[in-house]
Amino acid sequence: MSFKIAIDGPSSSGKSTLAKRVAKELDFVYIDTGAMYRAMGYYFLNNNLDLNDIDVVNDNVNDVSIEINYIDGVQHVLLNGEDISSVIRKEEVGNAGSVISTYQVVREKLVEMQQEMAKVQSVVMDGRDIGTVVLPDADVKIYLNADCHERAIRRHKELLEKGITKTLEDVEKDLAERDYRDMNRKNSPLKKADDAIEIDSTSLEIEEVVEKVLNIVREKQGE
Ligand code: DC
Repeated sequence: MSFKIAIDGPSSSGKSTLAKRVAKELDFVYIDTGAMYRAMGYYFLNNNLDLNDIDVVNDNVNDVSIEINYIDGVQHVLLNGEDISSVIRKEEVGNAGSVISTYQVVREKLVEMQQEMAKVQSVVMDGRDIGTVVLPDADVKIYLNADCHERAIRRHKELLEKGITKTLEDVEKDLAERDYRDMNRKNSPLKKADDAIEIDSTSLEIEEVVEKVLNIVREKQGE
C-alpha cells in the first residue's frame, strides 16, 4: 500500500525544501506540482500566447504535453519533450504558473496526472490543493505557513544568491499578489484542509519543521 503525504501552503513557506527532505528520509518520491503549473505557464509565455484570455487558453491547452521524469531521484519536467526544469524556476514563470492555474481546464489536466502518480508509489506531494483536491485521502496532511514578511526575506535572500537584484519591498509585494491570486481564485483555491496539521515556520529552522513532520508520519505509520 502506498503512503501519501500532502504539503500545502503559500509561496516561499518552505514547502519544497520540507517535502524534499521528508521524501529523502522516508525513501518516498517527491512530486513538485507547482513545477507542472510553471511548465504550463511557460508554454504560453514562450509562444507569446495571452494567458489572461480564457479563449486562448482553451484553444491551446491540448497542445501542451507535460511529463515528469526522475534522474538520480531529482524531478525533471518535460514540456512537449524538452527538459525545461531550470528555466521554470524564474520569477516570471512562477507568476505565469499562478495565472494559468486559475483555469479549471488546466487544473483538471494536471490534477489527473498527479493522482495517477500517487496511485503507484508512496509520495510526498507539495502544492496548493493537494490536501483538499488532489489527495483528499492523504495519510498525512500538512499546511505550512509563515508570515509574509519572513517569506519575503527568505525569497529575497535566494534571489540575491542567484545574482538577481530586486528590492525586498518588491519581493514582498509580488508574494502578496501571488498569495491573493492563489487564495482567492474560484477553482481549488489555496486553503488548509479541515484535517491538515498547520505548522507556522516563521520562527522555526527547517530542521525543526522536518523533525515535526517526520514525528507526525511515524505516529501515523504506527497506528
Ligand atoms: O509552488 P510554485 O511557486 O512552484 O507554484 C507556481 C504556481 O502554481 C502557484 O503560484 C500556484 C500554482 N499551483 C497551484 O495552483 N496548485 C498547485 N498544486 C501547485 C501550484
